[in-house]
Amino acid sequence: MSDVRVLVVSGSSRQGSFNQQLASVAAGLAAQAGAAVTTVDLRSLELPIYDEDLHLKGTPEGAHRLVRLFAGHDALLLATPEYNGFPTPLLINALDWASTVQAVDGQPSGSTAFGGTVAGLLSASPGAFGGLRSLLATRQFLQMNLGMLVVPEQFGLVRADQAFDAAGALVDAGSVAGVSRVVHAVLRTARALKNAP
Ligand SMILES: Cc1cc2nc3c(=O)[nH]c(=O)nc-3n(C[C@H](O)[C@H](O)[C@H](O)COP(=O)(O)O)c2cc1C
Repeated sequence: MSDVRVLVVSGSSRQGSFNQQLASVAAGLAAQAGAAVTTVDLRSLELPIYDEDLHLKGTPEGAHRLVRLFAGHDALLLATPEYNGFPTPLLINALDWASTVQAVDGQPSGSTAFGGTVAGLLSASPGAFGGLRSLLATRQFLQMNLGMLVVPEQFGLVRADQAFDAAGALVDAGSVAGVSRVVHAVLRTARALKNAP
Protein backbone atom coordinates (compact mmCIF):
# COMPACT_ATOMS: atom_id res chain seq x y z
CA MET A 1 0.00 0.00 0.00
CA SER A 2 1.36 3.46 -0.89
CA ASP A 3 1.69 5.80 2.03
CA VAL A 4 3.43 9.05 1.19
CA ARG A 5 2.85 10.82 -2.10
CA VAL A 6 5.99 12.09 -3.81
CA LEU A 7 6.22 14.60 -6.62
CA VAL A 8 9.27 14.15 -8.84
CA VAL A 9 10.54 17.15 -10.81
CA SER A 10 13.48 17.81 -13.09
CA GLY A 11 14.81 21.33 -13.58
CA SER A 12 15.55 20.40 -17.20
CA SER A 13 13.08 19.14 -19.79
CA ARG A 14 15.79 18.81 -22.43
CA GLN A 15 15.67 15.67 -24.53
CA GLY A 16 18.27 13.34 -23.00
CA SER A 17 18.56 15.51 -19.87
CA PHE A 18 20.87 13.98 -17.25
CA ASN A 19 18.75 15.49 -14.50
CA GLN A 20 15.61 13.96 -15.93
CA GLN A 21 17.39 10.61 -15.91
CA LEU A 22 18.54 11.16 -12.32
CA ALA A 23 14.99 12.16 -11.31
CA SER A 24 13.73 9.01 -12.94
CA VAL A 25 16.18 6.87 -10.92
CA ALA A 26 14.97 8.62 -7.74
CA ALA A 27 11.33 8.03 -8.77
CA GLY A 28 12.03 4.32 -9.21
CA LEU A 29 13.68 4.04 -5.80
CA ALA A 30 10.81 5.91 -4.12
CA ALA A 31 8.22 3.66 -5.79
CA GLN A 32 10.22 0.59 -4.78
CA ALA A 33 10.12 1.84 -1.18
CA GLY A 34 6.32 2.06 -1.27
CA ALA A 35 5.68 5.72 -2.13
CA ALA A 36 3.08 6.86 -4.66
CA VAL A 37 5.07 8.78 -7.25
CA THR A 38 3.95 11.47 -9.69
CA THR A 39 6.39 12.90 -12.21
CA VAL A 40 5.71 16.34 -13.61
CA ASP A 41 7.41 17.78 -16.71
CA LEU A 42 7.85 21.51 -16.08
CA ARG A 43 7.85 22.24 -19.81
CA SER A 44 4.34 20.82 -20.07
CA LEU A 45 3.08 23.61 -17.76
CA GLU A 46 3.73 26.07 -20.63
CA LEU A 47 4.55 28.95 -18.30
CA PRO A 48 5.75 32.20 -19.86
CA ILE A 49 8.64 34.06 -18.23
CA TYR A 50 7.19 35.72 -15.15
CA ASP A 51 6.31 39.37 -15.66
CA GLU A 52 4.06 41.37 -13.34
CA ASP A 53 2.31 43.11 -16.24
CA LEU A 54 1.50 39.71 -17.71
CA HIS A 55 0.37 38.52 -14.29
CA LEU A 56 -2.16 41.38 -14.09
CA LYS A 57 -3.88 39.80 -17.10
CA GLY A 58 -4.28 36.50 -15.22
CA THR A 59 -2.43 33.52 -13.83
CA PRO A 60 -1.62 30.78 -16.35
CA GLU A 61 -3.38 27.44 -15.81
CA GLY A 62 0.04 25.77 -15.51
CA ALA A 63 0.71 27.70 -12.28
CA HIS A 64 -2.60 26.48 -10.79
CA ARG A 65 -1.78 22.97 -11.94
CA LEU A 66 1.58 23.07 -10.17
CA VAL A 67 -0.06 24.34 -6.95
CA ARG A 68 -2.64 21.54 -7.10
CA LEU A 69 0.20 19.04 -7.56
CA PHE A 70 2.07 20.35 -4.50
CA ALA A 71 -1.16 20.40 -2.49
CA GLY A 72 -1.76 16.75 -3.36
CA HIS A 73 1.71 15.50 -2.41
CA ASP A 74 3.66 15.19 0.82
CA ALA A 75 7.14 15.37 -0.61
CA LEU A 76 9.29 16.53 -3.50
CA LEU A 77 12.28 14.88 -5.14
CA LEU A 78 13.99 17.45 -7.32
CA ALA A 79 16.92 17.06 -9.69
CA THR A 80 18.12 20.29 -11.21
CA PRO A 81 21.04 21.26 -13.42
CA GLU A 82 23.38 24.05 -12.39
CA TYR A 83 23.39 27.07 -14.68
CA ASN A 84 26.15 29.45 -13.62
CA GLY A 85 25.85 28.36 -10.03
CA PHE A 86 22.05 28.51 -9.87
CA PRO A 87 19.09 26.27 -10.55
CA THR A 88 17.58 26.66 -14.00
CA PRO A 89 15.22 29.42 -15.13
CA LEU A 90 12.72 26.66 -16.02
CA LEU A 91 12.55 25.64 -12.36
CA ILE A 92 12.68 29.07 -10.74
CA ASN A 93 10.11 30.48 -13.16
CA ALA A 94 7.65 27.66 -12.46
CA LEU A 95 8.03 28.02 -8.69
CA ASP A 96 7.79 31.83 -8.91
CA TRP A 97 4.53 31.58 -10.85
CA ALA A 98 3.12 29.02 -8.41
CA SER A 99 4.13 31.19 -5.44
CA THR A 100 1.84 33.97 -6.72
CA VAL A 101 -1.28 31.76 -6.78
CA GLN A 102 -3.87 32.87 -4.23
CA ALA A 103 -6.30 30.57 -2.42
CA VAL A 104 -9.52 30.19 -4.41
CA ASP A 105 -12.53 27.81 -4.41
CA GLY A 106 -11.06 25.42 -1.86
CA GLN A 107 -7.69 25.33 -3.62
CA PRO A 108 -4.85 26.46 -1.36
CA SER A 109 -2.51 29.30 -2.19
CA GLY A 110 0.91 28.51 -3.62
CA SER A 111 2.62 29.31 -0.34
CA THR A 112 0.25 27.05 1.62
CA ALA A 113 0.77 24.22 -0.88
CA PHE A 114 4.58 24.54 -0.68
CA GLY A 115 4.70 24.91 3.13
CA GLY A 116 5.91 21.81 4.96
CA THR A 117 6.59 19.83 1.76
CA VAL A 118 9.53 17.55 2.53
CA ALA A 119 12.11 18.04 -0.22
CA GLY A 120 15.20 16.11 -1.31
CA LEU A 121 17.72 17.63 -3.68
CA LEU A 122 19.69 16.04 -6.49
CA SER A 123 21.78 17.50 -9.27
CA ALA A 124 23.60 16.11 -12.28
CA SER A 125 26.36 17.77 -14.26
CA PRO A 126 28.92 16.61 -16.81
CA GLY A 127 31.42 18.59 -14.71
CA ALA A 128 33.51 17.56 -11.72
CA PHE A 129 31.35 19.12 -8.99
CA GLY A 130 27.94 17.65 -9.82
CA GLY A 131 26.14 20.98 -9.58
CA LEU A 132 27.01 21.52 -5.93
CA ARG A 133 26.49 25.28 -6.07
CA SER A 134 22.98 24.90 -7.51
CA LEU A 135 22.15 22.46 -4.71
CA LEU A 136 23.04 25.11 -2.16
CA ALA A 137 21.08 27.85 -3.93
CA THR A 138 18.08 25.55 -4.42
CA ARG A 139 18.15 24.59 -0.75
CA GLN A 140 18.00 28.25 0.24
CA PHE A 141 15.22 29.01 -2.25
CA LEU A 142 12.97 26.11 -1.25
CA GLN A 143 13.58 26.37 2.47
CA MET A 144 13.90 30.07 3.21
CA ASN A 145 11.50 31.39 0.58
CA LEU A 146 8.96 28.66 -0.06
CA GLY A 147 8.80 27.10 3.41
CA MET A 148 9.71 23.56 2.42
CA LEU A 149 11.54 21.21 4.74
CA VAL A 150 14.69 20.27 2.83
CA VAL A 151 16.39 17.16 4.23
CA PRO A 152 20.13 17.51 4.97
CA GLU A 153 21.06 14.66 2.60
CA GLN A 154 21.72 15.71 -1.00
CA PHE A 155 23.51 14.22 -3.98
CA GLY A 156 25.38 15.76 -6.90
CA LEU A 157 26.14 13.38 -9.76
CA VAL A 158 29.53 14.21 -11.32
CA ARG A 159 30.51 13.31 -14.92
CA ALA A 160 26.85 12.75 -15.66
CA ASP A 161 27.59 12.26 -19.36
CA GLN A 162 29.27 8.95 -18.44
CA ALA A 163 27.02 7.96 -15.53
CA PHE A 164 24.06 6.23 -17.20
CA ASP A 165 23.74 3.11 -19.31
CA ALA A 166 21.57 2.96 -22.45
CA ALA A 167 18.49 2.07 -20.35
CA GLY A 168 18.97 5.15 -18.12
CA ALA A 169 20.27 3.23 -15.10
CA LEU A 170 23.21 4.57 -13.07
CA VAL A 171 26.26 2.42 -13.76
CA ASP A 172 28.08 3.16 -10.49
CA ALA A 173 26.74 1.56 -7.30
CA GLY A 174 28.07 4.48 -5.23
CA SER A 175 25.88 6.87 -7.23
CA VAL A 176 22.82 4.67 -6.70
CA ALA A 177 23.60 4.73 -2.97
CA GLY A 178 23.88 8.54 -3.07
CA VAL A 179 20.43 8.91 -4.65
CA SER A 180 18.99 6.27 -2.36
CA ARG A 181 20.20 8.14 0.76
CA VAL A 182 18.27 11.23 -0.34
CA VAL A 183 15.14 9.28 -1.31
CA HIS A 184 15.04 7.39 1.98
CA ALA A 185 15.66 10.51 4.07
CA VAL A 186 12.71 12.17 2.31
CA LEU A 187 10.41 9.17 2.79
CA ARG A 188 11.45 8.74 6.44
CA THR A 189 10.79 12.40 7.23
CA ALA A 190 7.52 12.58 5.27
CA ARG A 191 6.23 9.41 6.97
CA ALA A 192 7.18 10.69 10.42
CA LEU A 193 5.37 13.97 9.78
CA LYS A 194 2.33 12.25 8.32
CA ASN A 195 2.02 9.95 11.35
CA ALA A 196 2.75 12.67 13.90
CA PRO A 197 -0.11 13.15 16.38
C1 LIG B 1 23.69 28.59 -19.37
C2 LIG B 1 24.40 27.38 -18.84
C3 LIG B 1 25.18 27.48 -17.71
C4 LIG B 1 25.80 26.35 -17.17
N1 LIG B 1 26.49 26.48 -15.99
C5 LIG B 1 27.00 25.37 -15.40
C6 LIG B 1 27.58 25.44 -14.10
O1 LIG B 1 27.65 26.49 -13.47
N2 LIG B 1 28.03 24.30 -13.54
C7 LIG B 1 27.93 23.08 -14.17
O2 LIG B 1 28.35 22.07 -13.59
N3 LIG B 1 27.41 22.99 -15.43
C8 LIG B 1 26.92 24.09 -16.04
N4 LIG B 1 26.32 24.00 -17.27
C9 LIG B 1 26.32 22.70 -17.99
C10 LIG B 1 25.16 21.84 -17.54
O3 LIG B 1 25.51 21.16 -16.34
C11 LIG B 1 24.84 20.81 -18.64
O4 LIG B 1 24.38 21.49 -19.79
C12 LIG B 1 23.85 19.78 -18.19
O5 LIG B 1 23.80 18.73 -19.14
C13 LIG B 1 22.44 20.37 -18.02
O6 LIG B 1 21.59 19.44 -17.41
P1 LIG B 1 20.59 18.48 -18.24
O7 LIG B 1 21.44 17.47 -18.92
O8 LIG B 1 19.72 17.90 -17.20
O9 LIG B 1 19.83 19.34 -19.22
C14 LIG B 1 25.68 25.11 -17.82
C15 LIG B 1 24.91 25.01 -18.99
C16 LIG B 1 24.26 26.11 -19.48
C17 LIG B 1 23.38 25.98 -20.71
